[in-house]
Amino acid sequence: MQQAIAILDSGVGGLTVCKEVMRQLPREKIIYFGDTARAPYGPRSPEEVRLFTEQIVDYLIQFDPKMIVIACNTATAAALDYIKAKVKIPVIGVIHPGSRAAISATKTGKVGVIGTIGTICSGAYDKALRELNPQIEIVSEACPDFVPLVERGLYENPEALYVVQDSLRDMKEHPIDCLILGCTHYPFLKQPIQQVMGPKVKLISSADETAREISTVLHQRGCLAHRDEIPVHQFFCSGDPGIFRKIARQWLGEQIELTPIVWQVF
Ligand code: SIN
Repeated sequence: MQQAIAILDSGVGGLTVCKEVMRQLPREKIIYFGDTARAPYGPRSPEEVRLFTEQIVDYLIQFDPKMIVIACNTATAAALDYIKAKVKIPVIGVIHPGSRAAISATKTGKVGVIGTIGTICSGAYDKALRELNPQIEIVSEACPDFVPLVERGLYENPEALYVVQDSLRDMKEHPIDCLILGCTHYPFLKQPIQQVMGPKVKLISSADETAREISTVLHQRGCLAHRDEIPVHQFFCSGDPGIFRKIARQWLGEQIELTPIVWQVF
């Protein structure tokens, strides 16, 4: 049986990474877990996010994946090192790929980062960006209203523009030339975010760079899929399957095979 890439997120946000993996690595099978019953992770404590991430990894490991992608910035900040030490297969997060993309895109060295409260308070982007370029100037802002909007499927609703305008009021005043969408849910709001920030600010989504990193890791380990048949992806969510299915169909442009999961532990 073909070994899959396991991708996890607090909800639908990791579908932005999933879509890019499907585009860049069309032969790879994906197993996706969205913990929609417990999203958003952003306002939760790092300990709780680590526990939830570990539960999902324990669940996904039964499918014998060839690697794990923590496609959630909040969970990457809280649990990446912990999960890496726990499992024997490669594990990657989304913060380093996003930071690399921003460093190569910025011309002025002034970069903005938006994310959940958990991600911004962790300082994980500041650390990752400064490791790459100690001179970089960073402005960070938490946008806690974005994830609930996306999880409710309202990202194309006119209300989205008002929420984005309100949340980016301060960020807009800074002379940045790149803005890192430091939450995998935020690419769903790319259009209103670009409208508010203006055309001179380049939006950086970690999804493309993460898919490239997956490809590099699998290539280095000699485990890229070579078979010609189209992989059948599997999706799991812990909350309302109806809304997950609808968002996944809209975002991925195809019907998905979805299994709802009921967690024993909350
Ligand atoms: C969240 O669940 O609050 C957001 C996920 C992320 O940080 O990417």
